[in-house]
Amino acid sequence: MPVYPPEPWRIKMVEPLRTTTRDDREEALREAGWNPCLLRSEDVYVDLFTDSGTNAMSDRQWSALMRGDEAYAGARSFYVFEEAVRAFYGYEHVIPVHQGRGGENILSRCLIRPGTHVPGNMYFPSTRAHQELNGATFHDVIVDEAHDAESEHPFKGDVDLGKLRAVIAEFGADAIPYVSLAATVNMAGGQPISVANVAETCALAHAHGIPVFLDTARAVENAWLVKQREPGWARASVAEILLALCAPTDGAVMSAKKDSLANIGGWIALRDPVLAEQARGLVLVYEGLHTYGGMTGRDMEAIAVGIAESVEEDHIRARVAQVEYLGERLDRAGVPITRPIGGHCVCIDAAAALPHVPRTDFPAQTVACAIYLEAGVRGVERGAVTAGRDPVTGVNRLPKLELLRLAIPRRVYTRAHMDLVADTVIAVHRDRDRIACGLTFAYEPRHLRFFQARFKPVSGASIFDTR
Ligand code: F0G
Repeated sequence: MPVYPPEPWRIKMVEPLRTTTRDDREEALREAGWNPCLLRSEDVYVDLFTDSGTNAMSDRQWSALMRGDEAYAGARSFYVFEEAVRAFYGYEHVIPVHQGRGGENILSRCLIRPGTHVPGNMYFPSTRAHQELNGATFHDVIVDEAHDAESEHPFKGDVDLGKLRAVIAEFGADAIPYVSLAATVNMAGGQPISVANVAETCALAHAHGIPVFLDTARAVENAWLVKQREPGWARASVAEILLALCAPTDGAVMSAKKDSLANIGGWIALRDPVLAEQARGLVLVYEGLHTYGGMTGRDMEAIAVGIAESVEEDHIRARVAQVEYLGERLDRAGVPITRPIGGHCVCIDAAAALPHVPRTDFPAQTVACAIYLEAGVRGVERGAVTAGRDPVTGVNRLPKLELLRLAIPRRVYTRAHMDLVADTVIAVHRDRDRIACGLTFAYEPRHLRFFQARFKPVSGASIFDTR
């Protein structure tokens, strides 16, 4: 059995889960248009849709809620929050937003002009959507290994500096408003970027006058993986590594719903006072006053405590170990997963698991449905459905990775839940030949289509029909 360190917490309050029958689940999934994203959560037993906003807050966070100052302007809670972001991430100007994509909207609007180009280490759907909505073209400059589920490269989040140089040479530095980095890289399976690569990427970009912004949603998990894998960092604290990752960058966009152990919230942090003033102006228009940005005072208090807890080594060790435990169980049973196991999720390589389902019939969406039907476990497709269509040509993008992501909320599930998930996935994989067909769109939304799309089996009434 893989290692499972005991959780560094005990349970003080419980949230009952509802068990369902196979018939219940078949009805629920049909009503949801074969899209687990559209299921009601009460029809789900173990919900690994996302680690975003699904964390369990600590008693310290819950008690901090009572300190929330709900003043419209200049709330004390804002200054507590600002101080925490400054202390742990090292940026001077801190601007609150309601969640990560609120920050992406503001940063993209501040910096992007139509016809410009944004290079980045793979894309995240909401990040790229804001870049494209503002008229930029995204260019993936991540190392090739990131697109290979089997590669054991320890830093699959690294930028390929040759690819970045080529984008700069082709379009010119003036046409590149910024480089968009993420730590970790969600779409590659929670893969980290090395401290050395962040520094080299910034040095190259800065030599051309191009700023670099870091998506810090899971930068603490990235810091933990740096401590395990990058030479020279084993003895540094996670807090020190987090500061080192942020230090060379010009700013960050944060979804506090991930690392910071909160249920909502986010921020933009910048070094340039002029850009910060511009961003505050847009926050006023889209989010709320620049001292709350769409959050309540108590949200900001809970985030401030969550930031400090997130870098505690007992916490981050257990968090990542739980993800590794699930991944190792699947790997040892022969389920094809993205290697190495990432910081927040285990990703099943659905193209490898279901070679008989054509890529155009969405194998990862199909596996998501099969796993839900088996035991009420919900994961999310991270493949062709999520990749969407090219905004210019309208052609479906077919990414190299066709993944089903099982993202693990922080401090929510126990080892028994992880075993249930592993047993479910292993059973579905063992019986994979019973999956007779994939899925096709019954309704396809224009933006971020994976959330609201509806599907139907390509043939028959079910993916298990042999007709
Ligand atoms: N950046 C990354 C790397 C993310 O994973 C997310 C959200 C965002 C930005 C946007 O932040 O949700 O607060 O607006 N990821 C969630 C997920 C939705 O399931 O991976 P948000």
